[in-house]
Amino acid sequence: MKLKSVLVGAFAAAGLAMASLPALADPIVIKFSHVVAVDTPKGKAAEFFKKRVDELTKGKVKVEVYPNSQLYKDKEEMEALQLGAVQMLAPSLAKFGPLGVKEFEVFDLPFIFDDYNDLHKVTQGPVGQGLLKKLEPKGITGLAYWDNGFKSFSANTPIHKPEDLKGKKMRIQSSKVLEEQMRSVGSIPQVMAFSEVYQALQTGVVDGTENPISNLYTQKMHEVQKYLSLTNHGYLGYAVIVNKKFWDGLPADVKGPLDTAMKEATAYANKIAKEENDASLEGVKKAGKTTVYVPTKEERLAFKRAMVPVHQKMESRIGKETIQEIYKETEFDPSKL
Ligand code: LMR
Repeated sequence: MKLKSVLVGAFAAAGLAMASLPALADPIVIKFSHVVAVDTPKGKAAEFFKKRVDELTKGKVKVEVYPNSQLYKDKEEMEALQLGAVQMLAPSLAKFGPLGVKEFEVFDLPFIFDDYNDLHKVTQGPVGQGLLKKLEPKGITGLAYWDNGFKSFSANTPIHKPEDLKGKKMRIQSSKVLEEQMRSVGSIPQVMAFSEVYQALQTGVVDGTENPISNLYTQKMHEVQKYLSLTNHGYLGYAVIVNKKFWDGLPADVKGPLDTAMKEATAYANKIAKEENDASLEGVKKAGKTTVYVPTKEERLAFKRAMVPVHQKMESRIGKETIQEIYKETEFDPSKL
């Protein structure tokens, strides 16, 4: 009798231990929310990160990717990150102003980068790292920069010269620099969440927009925009950010693999960004709904001359020093236009 009760007790204890085992083995979940399609540089890099985290942590960490504003729109996702409702985001660099870190808008300055090479001097150098550090007091850790590409203007009328944008309502991201950029050519800037752009273009709430072609194509904006002008007038890319408290609290044995996965995902994102945008441009051309125009050298220079004064105008907002540092890195001289 005694033995029996001991055995029952032992089995019960074992049962309890078994019941608590799955709890011990529960993976750490990283919810990664973003606003673009899966088939974009950011969407693909997020999936790549998820896969590598699974492999490198042997399932101890699970990344759940929520694309296409499925979970949150632009503004809400920033709030959700700070509240800890999601752990990871990759907002465009134009969207940090509302968070109180307006210096990121330096990346929005029109024509400040000639190409990816120029851009990488900044994102992979001290200026870029310094900017990420500014996120810490907001409870956010900046992990990396992921590329997208250079923006082009689209509308339902041709855009060959700056005057063609005059009086047009243009959707922009939530950046004061972009507001000023649109004003510099007489447009009316309209800040709007990314998830609302297609409908706004379709219904005529706005006349046009600017985006790298991968965003335009994967949201089917080309179906509601008759003209696309390959102005490449500004850059759009991302900072991958995490909730600092969550990140700092991760056990040491998963931290290393997560850092490795992020490094690999960053290399991957930056490798595919241009290819994806090139492929999207082919997609737009094949769809045949949009006339694609390549501005002449003179026409592009006219856009540059009209828009570069925005740099000086925005000095007090984003910091003269940061702008000067970038000029130095990229050898840009606005007086030589
Ligand atoms: C936009 O709002 O146009 C972009 O920031 C979307 C994105 O994340 O690329």
